[in-house]
Amino acid sequence: MVIKVFDTAPKEGTMKEFSYENKEYFVVKNNGKLFCADNKCPHEDIKLTLGCIKGNSIKCSLHGYSFDLVTGSCSDEDVDRLNTYLVEERNDGVYVEVL
Ligand code: FES
Repeated sequence: MVIKVFDTAPKEGTMKEFSYENKEYFVVKNNGKLFCADNKCPHEDIKLTLGCIKGNSIKCSLHGYSFDLVTGSCSDEDVDRLNTYLVEERNDGVYVEVL
């Protein structure tokens, strides 16, 4: 299902959070592109928006593992992949395909 999550996209290098059906997500603009993922680290239960963007990954603030913004793969192969979602900026806002 595709849902509208914001009227405007986050500015370059910044994240915006949203929730849908009791799940937390974030959208980030990195190098001019939008990415969306769960706002919960697959390692332990902490918001990834407390971390920071490094290259094309988000780095968790708790133990420092990084998750690729496109594939969701973790820098540590023993940690689960982060769920990522299709996100699109349209004339009237930002849309995400949530599962
Ligand atoms: S809780 Fe995120 S890397 Fe450990």
